[in-house]
Amino acid sequence: MSKIIIANFKMNKNFDECANYVKVFKKFAVQDGKVAVLCPPAFALPLFAHELHKNKKCFVGAQNCAFATNGAFTGELSATMIKSTGAKYVILGHSERRNILGETDEVINKKVKLAIEAGLVPVVCIGEKLEEISRKKTILSNQIKKSLDGVDLAQVVIAYEPIWAIGTGMTCESSDIAFVHEYIKSKFKTNAGDDPIVVYGGSVKSANASEILNTCGVDGVLVGGASLDPNEFLKIVRA
Ligand code: PGA
Repeated sequence: MSKIIIANFKMNKNFDECANYVKVFKKFAVQDGKVAVLCPPAFALPLFAHELHKNKKCFVGAQNCAFATNGAFTGELSATMIKSTGAKYVILGHSERRNILGETDEVINKKVKLAIEAGLVPVVCIGEKLEEISRKKTILSNQIKKSLDGVDLAQVVIAYEPIWAIGTGMTCESSDIAFVHEYIKSKFKTNAGDDPIVVYGGSVKSANASEILNTCGVDGVLVGGASLDPNEFLKIVRA
């Protein structure tokens, strides 16, 4: 299976900056064995989807979707609206949305189900805080049980992102990443009995991407800060 390399721009880049980014990115081929998923701010989804639609190894994703299908939810974008832009993925339950915007596992679960119904692949983030490291197995497994309740894990990507490693430059040791990924894969299975897809996120950059991508149980990476420069992100895709 190809490794998935996901770029999460977060709330960065205006329209012109997005247009420049995709222009640079689309010049380069993504090599066999990798797929790239670019998650720009929502306004740029149609632009990215249009520019990358001919590239079979590049996909577009949103950073969030609404917990309802339509109606009086000012400012929200539904999963079907996101799908209609040409996007294929949606990041859900990112720790910034959990901790800054108060999203609960229950809300994330509703979003995951609507995203799947709309034909999107949810990238569902889980992760422990620094003070929770000693209890991380319980924390992570509760997040998976609740946010993915009633969901076939074959339809999602799980992103393990230790919160203390996000945007801090502190990466998890490879042995700890392998431990967590193996733990998730041994404890949770798809309806067909297969291992779920699990990617790692937290201060991934070109200098550590190859080691992380070659760590046991790692099916890809979710990249924040280092994805903002298209050349740096391409180096990660090629790692
Ligand atoms: P980072 O962010 O790569 O800047 O640590 C990762 C993420 O939040 O998804």
